[in-house]
Amino acid sequence: MLRDLGLQDLPEDRRNGVLYALTLMLGYPTSTDQRTGRVAWDVKARPVAEGGARFTTFSERVGNADMHTDSSFYPMPEEQFILYVVAAARCNGGQSLLVGVEEIYQTLQASPAGRAAFELLSTTPVPFRVPAIYAAGDEQVEVFTATVFGPARRPGARCTIRWRYDSIMKGLAARPDLDTPELRDAIALMNHAAEHAAPRFVHQLATDTLLLVDNHHMLHGRTTYDDEKRHLIRIRISDLPNAERIGPSGVARD
Ligand SMILES: [Fe+2]
Repeated sequence: MLRDLGLQDLPEDRRNGVLYALTLMLGYPTSTDQRTGRVAWDVKARPVAEGGARFTTFSERVGNADMHTDSSFYPMPEEQFILYVVAAARCNGGQSLLVGVEEIYQTLQASPAGRAAFELLSTTPVPFRVPAIYAAGDEQVEVFTATVFGPARRPGARCTIRWRYDSIMKGLAARPDLDTPELRDAIALMNHAAEHAAPRFVHQLATDTLLLVDNHHMLHGRTTYDDEKRHLIRIRISDLPNAERIGPSGVARD
């Protein structure tokens, strides 16, 4: 976390240009929005669409965000992302939360059921449904299957994590063939560890703060807020050039 980055008086295009330059030094920025190809994503509340039935994503709405990893519903989630705070929530809400995969692991190891859940979620693929804003079309249900825990990707790490509870619940509804009571129990235990039991970093990021997140070895989320002026910029960063990436988040138009 870097405070007082010094970008808050810059116009939007200059500010986003500096953020983009920073991400270029860390890897390869991706454009995860299939429809617009945008790299710098505005994390702020959007007006609710007519009908209101779309499966929206956390960055589009006020309220809390359950603990998750980004691009969990894609074949190759980016290794890192940055969040830059353009305007912090004024209502003292919207704290950023981080939980390391090691803390999740240790929490699950504390009980026999938790150990069984870790084992099952390391070996059994679960279905992740793609939120409507990222899907090719609103009417089409897209699902990607992957294990929650995978092999470590950096020295000293126990394993990687891929997680998004609401996407998995909607994925199980779309793929009942993968739905079992054992898997449901494991997902519920994992969700409890992620939301409540595991120790976490809790911090309200001030305006002009930059947060760099390891998206393969930690979960992130936020506490609830209702200030619609809260505004962050997110840029996701891959270790691989876009041309070598598989799936929608490999699309590069930047
Ligand atoms: Fe996220």
